[in-house]
Amino acid sequence: MIKRAILPVAGLGTRFLPASKSIPKEMVTVVDRPAIEYVVREAVEAGIEQIILVTHSSKASIENYFDRNFELETTLEQKKKFDLLKEITDILPKHVSVVSVRQPQPLGLGHAVLCAKDIVGDEAFAVLLPDVLVKDTATENDLSLMIQRFEQSQAAQIMVEAVPDHLVDQYGIVDVASSPNEGESTVMQGIVEKPAVGTAPSNLSVVGRYILPAKIMAMLENTPRGAGNEIQLTDAIASLQQLESVEAYRMKGQTFDCGSKIGYLKAVLHYGIDHPKLGEDFKGLIRELAL
Ligand code: G1P
Repeated sequence: MIKRAILPVAGLGTRFLPASKSIPKEMVTVVDRPAIEYVVREAVEAGIEQIILVTHSSKASIENYFDRNFELETTLEQKKKFDLLKEITDILPKHVSVVSVRQPQPLGLGHAVLCAKDIVGDEAFAVLLPDVLVKDTATENDLSLMIQRFEQSQAAQIMVEAVPDHLVDQYGIVDVASSPNEGESTVMQGIVEKPAVGTAPSNLSVVGRYILPAKIMAMLENTPRGAGNEIQLTDAIASLQQLESVEAYRMKGQTFDCGSKIGYLKAVLHYGIDHPKLGEDFKGLIRELAL
């Protein structure tokens, strides 16, 4: 069973300046809660019970958000604001814990994952990149389908989606004999980080959700710096794939890249119209603006 998920949150969020100058980009609000809460919720819905934040000294507000706030809870209780009290105590279900480890130097995503080596030990784990929000279909959580597939095949799972050909240089891209159907996995022939346009093996891009065996940590320890002079998770996955099957899982849901400003605005629109309390009024606002 996959019970642990690594969320690398140490990045400085330069794509999201000025908003990310003094608050972590992961704490920027999407409708009425920080972006990272959606990612944690996605993980918890897939059965994850421990969230491992790989973080930076400037990002304590992320840990604080998932911690209890005794003063606030007591004040809300005294004022009989029980709805609000429930909202803040429900952020993290009781059976889920959040631990954190520091990434002391910005050496890349692969290095960030390696920082959690001692916490994951010998067990397979998930990695969720919090820049990307994954909005599942009404009935199915893609991460949980990946976990089920991993449990059957024991092959690492890499979530992918199709992107336009001119955008392949922004992502990890997988090489597959033929593209899997949505909701299905297929064995990969290779994976490459940010290939130049015109050289990519496919248009299936790595979304930022992975199920990986513990042995990827040993691969990361031996991975030299790659694209952008950083230790790339993609390169370690390519090494793993030389040893054993690694599968690309094609997602069913929708992604929003909240690391980019326009992706963020799109997320606000989509999560806003689906919000149980604000959705109807928000749709009304959008209709007004569209006239
Ligand atoms: C990272 C990964 C890349 C993946 C992307 C998804 O890149 O290295 O393979 O496609 O996330 O968002 P980054 O966006 O951190 O440069």
